[in-house]
Amino acid sequence: MLKDHRIVLIVTGGIAVYKACTLVRGLVKAGAQVRVVMTEHAAQFVAPLTFETLSGHPVALTEWPRGPESPMPHIDLNRDADLLVVCPATANILAKAAHGIADDLASTLIAARRAPIVFVPAMNVHMWRSSAAQRNVEVLKEAGARFIGPAEGFQACGDVGAGRMTEPEAVLDRLMGFFAPKTLEGRRVLVTAGPTYEALDPVRGITNRSSGRQGYAVARAARDAGAEVTLVSGPTALRAPEGVRLVSVESAGEMLRAVEDALAEAPCDLFFSTAAVADWRPDSVPVLKMKKREGEPSPFEAVRWTENPDILRTVSARKDRPYAVGFAAETASGADLLELARAKRARKGCDLIVANDARRALDRSENAVRILGEDVDRSFGPADKDACARFIVEAAAQELKKKEMP
Ligand code: CTP
Repeated sequence: MLKDHRIVLIVTGGIAVYKACTLVRGLVKAGAQVRVVMTEHAAQFVAPLTFETLSGHPVALTEWPRGPESPMPHIDLNRDADLLVVCPATANILAKAAHGIADDLASTLIAARRAPIVFVPAMNVHMWRSSAAQRNVEVLKEAGARFIGPAEGFQACGDVGAGRMTEPEAVLDRLMGFFAPKTLEGRRVLVTAGPTYEALDPVRGITNRSSGRQGYAVARAARDAGAEVTLVSGPTALRAPEGVRLVSVESAGEMLRAVEDALAEAPCDLFFSTAAVADWRPDSVPVLKMKKREGEPSPFEAVRWTENPDILRTVSARKDRPYAVGFAAETASGADLLELARAKRARKGCDLIVANDARRALDRSENAVRILGEDVDRSFGPADKDACARFIVEAAAQELKKKEMP
C-alpha cells in the first residue's frame, strides 16, 4: 500500500524517539521511500546514524547544511514528499506548527509543507491535557492535519494516562491505509469477525478454527476507505485495527445482541458478516465443571442442543437493513462451491456472498474469494487476506453505490 510513496518523517525530541526507529523499518519494508528529519533534541535520544541506516538515506538535521546536500532542505524535502509524518510529535512542535513558527528545519519544513501531514503525539499526560496543547491540536485539525493517538497507559515519567505514543505497528497500520481511495467516506460499517465460543460448562466450550484475520482485514480496509467502523468480534488473538471500535463478545447470542445494539445506536450502510458463528449451543450450561465418572459414558453425550440465531439472516430481514455481505465458508471447490454459495445467499437474504473454500482459508494468512450477487460474479486471489479484504470492500462499495443510484 505504500510502495514508492515518498514520506518525510520528522522526528522531534522525546523518549518515544526509539519507537520511531521501528516505524521507519516498517515503512521501508512496506515499500515507502523514507527521508528522516530530526530536531536537535531528537538527536539527543537516538543517534541520527540509526535512522540513516534504517532509512538508507542521510538524516537532515539543519537548515544550514555545510556539505554537498541541498542548500534549501525545507523546500526540497517538501517538493518530493507525498506525506509528512511527525513522530513522535512533542507539545513544542504542535505549538510551532499551529502558529506557523519556523525556527529550525523541522518547523520550517512544516510551515512550508504542501503534502498532507500526520502527527503522532507523545508527551506527558498533563502536557497533553493542557489547554494550550488541546487548542493547538484543534487549530491543526481545522487546518486539515490528521492525528494518530496518543494512547493511554504507563508513561516513562511514571505518570499514567493519555499521552503515550501509539505503538509503531499501529501507526504503520494507519499509514498503510492513508493513500487508499476513500470510497466509503462518511459511511458507517459494521463487521462481525472471528469464531464464537459456546460454553459447555465453566471450563470447556465449542468453538472453531476461525482466526478472525479475514474479518479484521475487512474492518481495516473499510476504515482505510474512510468509513466509521464497528467490529463485533468473537475471541481472537488479534489486536483491533487502530481507529476501529471493537466490541468483544463470546457466544452467538452475545454477537447478535451487540450487532443489534450497534444498529440501534445509528443505522449503518454496510454489514460484513465474516464471523464463523456456531450454529448450535447447549440447551443449558451447568454451574459446575462436568466430571468424569469411572465406568460411565462421557457426560457430554447427554448434552442437548438449541439452534443459534442466524445473525446475517436477522440483519438482512430488517426493514432498515444495511447493504449486507455474507461469507460462505464451504469444504467444496469449483462448481460445487458456487452452487452452495448461491443457495446460501438466497437462504440468508443478503446482497452479496463471498464464497471461499474453508480448508484453504480458515486459520491461514491467504485466501481466494469469489463474490456473488444478482449481477455480480467476481474472483480474486489467492492473495493475502489484506488484499482480499480490500477487493471485497471495494466491490461492496461499488455495488452499494450502484444500488443507491436512481
Ligand atoms: N452466519 C450468521 N449466523 C449464524 C451462522 C452463520 O450470521 N448463526 C453467517 C456467517 O457470518 C456467514 C454466513 O452466515 O456470513 C454463512 O456462514 P457459514 O458458516 O458458511 O454457513 P452456515 O449458515 O453456518 O451454514 P452451513 O453450516 O450449513 O454451511
